[in-house]
Amino acid sequence: MPSPLPITDENIDRAAESLRTGELVAFPTETVYGLGADATNDRAVAKIYEAKNRPHFNPLIVHCPDAESARQLVEFSAFAEAFTQQFWPGAISFILPRRRDSPLSLLLSAGLPTVAIRVPADERARRLLRAARVPVAAPSANSSGRISPTTAAHVEADLGDRVSLILDGGACTLGVESTVVDLTVSPPALLRQGGVTQETLEAVLGSPLSSSLAEDGQPKSPGMLASHYAPSLPVRFLAGSKQPGEAYLGFGPSTDADLNLSSAGDLTEAAANLFSYLHQLDDPRWTRIAVAPIPEEGLGRAINDRLRRAAAPRA
Ligand code: TXA
Ligand code: MG
Repeated sequence: MPSPLPITDENIDRAAESLRTGELVAFPTETVYGLGADATNDRAVAKIYEAKNRPHFNPLIVHCPDAESARQLVEFSAFAEAFTQQFWPGAISFILPRRRDSPLSLLLSAGLPTVAIRVPADERARRLLRAARVPVAAPSANSSGRISPTTAAHVEADLGDRVSLILDGGACTLGVESTVVDLTVSPPALLRQGGVTQETLEAVLGSPLSSSLAEDGQPKSPGMLASHYAPSLPVRFLAGSKQPGEAYLGFGPSTDADLNLSSAGDLTEAAANLFSYLHQLDDPRWTRIAVAPIPEEGLGRAINDRLRRAAAPRA
C-alpha cells in the first residue's frame, strides 16, 4: 500500500509518469482529493470506476492545467469562452460538447456527447496536470457513496490499496466539490452546487441560471442522485439539539456539539470542515449523526445539498 508522498518536483514527475502509464494517482485540488487517471485511456478510466465501485452511468470530470488544453477536448462557443474565462482556474466544472476529434475516452463521459471539464485553482494540481501531458479524469477519491476525501489520510484509509500513488498536499482549502454548470443549454443550468456559489454565477451572468432538473423531475446530473454522499451511520438533518446515542455536528454557538463545523457561524470554515467531521463522527460509538441547521445561502447551499443526501433514505 503506497504511503502518501509530499509534493516535490520529483514526486510530481513520478505521479505524472504513473498517469501516463495508465495507473491511478490520488492528488489534492482546492475542492477535494481527486482519483486521477489518463482521460484518453479507456482502461485507465475503467480502473477509476472499479476502484470506486462506481455505477458506470456516473460520468467523470476531466482536469486540465489551463483553458488552452481544454480547447483541444471540447467545443467552446463564444459565450462559453467568455464565461469560463471568468471562473477558471477555479472550483467549477463546465459541461461542454465533446469535440469530434477529441482524444477523450468514451467511457469517461458514460456515453454522453458532452464532457465535464475543469481547470483547478490549486497550483500543485495544475503542476501535476502540466507534467502529465494528458488530460486527467478525476472523480473525488472515495469509494462510491462514501464521503469525499479532504486529506491524504482519508484517501489512504478508503482507497489506499487501489491506487499507485497518493500525493499529500494537506487539507483541501475549500472542502466541497466543484460547482457543475451545463453550458450546452441556454441559460446555463446549475447541475451541482459547489465551491463557486449560485449567487456569484448569477451575478456574472446577470440573470438566473436554469433549473438542474429535467422536465420529468429527474436530475440531469447522475451525481445528483439522492443518497450519493452517505456516511455509514444514519443522518438526522436540521437537528436543533442532540438526542441520546447521537453524535451532534454543530454550526454556530452550541454546547451540544461533538464537533462544530464553525462555532463562529462561518460557512467557508464549515465547508472546509464538512467531510472531515462527517468522517470523524461516522463511528460505531454513536447510533446516528444529528446535524444542526445550516443557512441556505452561498456555500451553505452546497453544504446542505450534501447533508440532505447524507440524510436521504438508503436505496
Ligand atoms: O471538485 C470536484 O469536482 C472533484 C475534484 C476531484 O475535481 N471531482 C468530482 O468528480 O467531484 P465527481 O466524479 O465526483 O463528480 C462529477 C460530477 C457528477 O455530478 C457527474 O454526474 C457530473 O459531474 N458530470 C460529469 N460529466 C457530466 C456530463 N457530461 N453531463 C452532466 N453531468 C456530468
Ligand atoms: Mg464524488
